[in-house]
Amino acid sequence: MKRMKLAVFAALGVMVLTGSVVADEADGDEALKRANKAVERREAVMGLMGWSAGPMVGMIKEQTPYDAEAFTRQARRMAALSEMVADLFKADVRNFDLHTQAKPELWDDYEDFASLAQELVASSKSLVVASEAGDLDVARKAFTAVADDCKACHDKYKEDDH
Ligand code: HEC
Repeated sequence: MKRMKLAVFAALGVMVLTGSVVADEADGDEALKRANKAVERREAVMGLMGWSAGPMVGMIKEQTPYDAEAFTRQARRMAALSEMVADLFKADVRNFDLHTQAKPELWDDYEDFASLAQELVASSKSLVVASEAGDLDVARKAFTAVADDCKACHDKYKEDDH
């Protein structure tokens, strides 16, 4: 009788174990999905970052006529997007097999990454103020500082396009 009870407990134990393996797999799928979503959001915001810069670059290079209002509008959009960067990249996705251009080193020193993101918050805010002066030369100078901040972070934490 005692033996029988033990066998039942043993069987239950196995069931509990298999149950937790199944749960781990389900958690793994969920975690992968979440990591994928995180990367999609990061790339979407960075894509919008490029989109916000585009018209300003055109005006700075004098390929399109300078439109102070349109320039300021894009600068504001960029400043709003830049506020999202540090939080968006916080979750470490190094353990997942994902298509991302974010270098793994980003999470070795997330604080450094976050401070580079903060640089962009500051320079894009200055760009908004500069663009409100309605003077292309003033705007160009402020934009150069912004572009330097994009580049500083990409050089360190973004894989080259291939
Ligand atoms: C603090 C770091 C940081 C700053 C600042 C930054 N980026 Fe990025 N950017 C990244 C990383 C990391 C990626 C790669 C993201 C990925 O593939 O998951 C990226 C990707 C991109 C991409 C490619 C998006 C895609 O479709 O995959 C564009 C475009 C881009 N950035 C534009 C900009 C512009 C323009 C600025 C400045 C206004 C900027 N970034 C500032 C870190 C940064």
